[in-house]
Amino acid sequence: MTPVANDVDALDNAAQQVLRENDRGGYTIPTAGLYPYQWNWDSVFCALGFATFDEHRAWREIETLFEAQWPNGMVPHIVFRTDDRDYFPGPGVWGTTELGLPWPSSGISQPPVAATVVRWLLEQSSDRALAERRLRGLFTGLCAWHRWWHAARDPDGLGIVTVSHPWESGRDNLPDWDVPGEAIDVAGIGVYRRRDTEHVDPHMRPHKVDYDRYLALVRFGRERNWDPARIAAENPFWVADVGVTAILLRAERDLAHLARELGDTTEKEAIEARIARMEAGFDRFWNERAGTFCSYDLRSGRHAEAATSASLLCFYAGAGSPEQRARVLDMTRKWAQEVTYLTPSFEPSSPGFEHLRYWRGPVWAMINFMIGVGFAECGHGDLADRIRSDTASLIEQSGFSEYYSPVDGSGAGGGAFSWTAAVWLAWASPNANGFNRTEQTHGDR
Ligand code: GLC
Repeated sequence: MTPVANDVDALDNAAQQVLRENDRGGYTIPTAGLYPYQWNWDSVFCALGFATFDEHRAWREIETLFEAQWPNGMVPHIVFRTDDRDYFPGPGVWGTTELGLPWPSSGISQPPVAATVVRWLLEQSSDRALAERRLRGLFTGLCAWHRWWHAARDPDGLGIVTVSHPWESGRDNLPDWDVPGEAIDVAGIGVYRRRDTEHVDPHMRPHKVDYDRYLALVRFGRERNWDPARIAAENPFWVADVGVTAILLRAERDLAHLARELGDTTEKEAIEARIARMEAGFDRFWNERAGTFCSYDLRSGRHAEAATSASLLCFYAGAGSPEQRARVLDMTRKWAQEVTYLTPSFEPSSPGFEHLRYWRGPVWAMINFMIGVGFAECGHGDLADRIRSDTASLIEQSGFSEYYSPVDGSGAGGGAFSWTAAVWLAWASPNANGFNRTEQTHGDR
């Protein structure tokens, strides 16, 4: 259902209001209470939303994120600019304060959407000179971050990147992490007080066993001073993730484009070599039994058993053979019959599907945005339109929620959520005109 004009304008205003209210001065929190700091990929999506009404502020969001970049190139998943007692695990638990970092932060990263968004900011800017100046300021940091992903999370050069913690995937509670997570030793984790379940209904959040594992991995990294070489060699959880790999591959293509714009041949060639390795490596995700791309546990050599919404990101990434992509399209069309709203985060016919529990079924607007853009660029306009209009209907019906039930459209998790508002402004709103929805405009494939 497309919202009528007045509703659209009201929603546009409300979305701007969400971003303004969550703005803490140069950086935006995902939502008050539940997530009171700067989160990596949340911030980058916020920049897309800001770009629709304040370009300077959009660039600032990404710049403040990169102010927290580690000397080894990693851009952390959370930047702790304050110490908010309402959040757990906070800066003390991560144990990074002794590492001489520019800002206290967590010890892991999050999906690298920044280069892709920076390219969009550049292409959609009304002040090209300003945009080029800001791009020059970010370019070196973007290149260093991409190099970090390859060196730290793909040290064997397989062309697929791993996550060292479920939180590094950005899709924290996927069923994909259950079996690999059994290898994590939770002994001695002791008693702790979760804050997430004080902010939202526990039925929508991870179980205690999952939380114990999250904390055990934080302890494991902290005890190794977050040294990437030791983590790669010893971390009990080491899973190559379709989502992060697809997002990085796409971001590498956009970074190569930016390198060409800036005339940086050395970086361009290094990036192109990484792209070639990733294009070949992506095939390791193919799980013939499931008929789709699935995460791959490098410790056990086993694939996850079912699809997640990240399987559909092969279009956005420009990855996969024509036959593989055809099967992912068939799967998407099947899902479109099985749920009311695309895109469920987990295979809806699987016994592990839960329509309201965090990453085990619900729809996220920013994932829909990436999937929708990928479909549009690859000429699958019908699916791109369906995903965009489903996203608009969910927001119209249930507001700017953290995520939504694909079954009945109810909103869940935190409210007044920044990236949902940003994705509305940049893409889902009928007033959004930044993205050409049915033509190949962005990917260099
Ligand atoms: C949850 C999500 C993660 C996000 C964070 C803040 O942890 O799984 O992707 O960045 O919330 O919104």
